Amino acid sequence: MVVCRGGDCGSRAKHPDVDHVGLLRQMRDRIGGSARVAPSKCLEACEHSNVVVVVPGARDGEQVWVGGVNDRELNTALSDFVRAGGPGVAMLPIELELQQFRASRRSRQELDVERSTTGRRG
Ligand code: FES
Repeated sequence: MVVCRGGDCGSRAKHPDVDHVGLLRQMRDRIGGSARVAPSKCLEACEHSNVVVVVPGARDGEQVWVGGVNDRELNTALSDFVRAGGPGVAMLPIELELQQFRASRRSRQELDVERSTTGRRG
């Protein structure tokens, strides 16, 4: 799971009412050892900030890009989805489906670069 913490995501200037550190902590606590939570630099989808990408552990799952992850409720739904197995295994909850967006080629490339340079797979 990749949690963008680039220029806009995680920015107190852009989202002054969001507890970015608290949300990241909540996500890690709730997911536990089910998956890795890896912060990243900008994924070139700032208009959707805060952006989280759920990378499938299952072979036939697809990445799920979710925007507007700026409150505890959505954060909880996202964490529970990951704990339940994520893409290709668990059903995407409606609140995540509503926030899901199609990543541009550039965004997917940024994610690939981020994951390859850090050696992160989840
Ligand atoms: S800072 Fe997250 S997509 Fe740009």
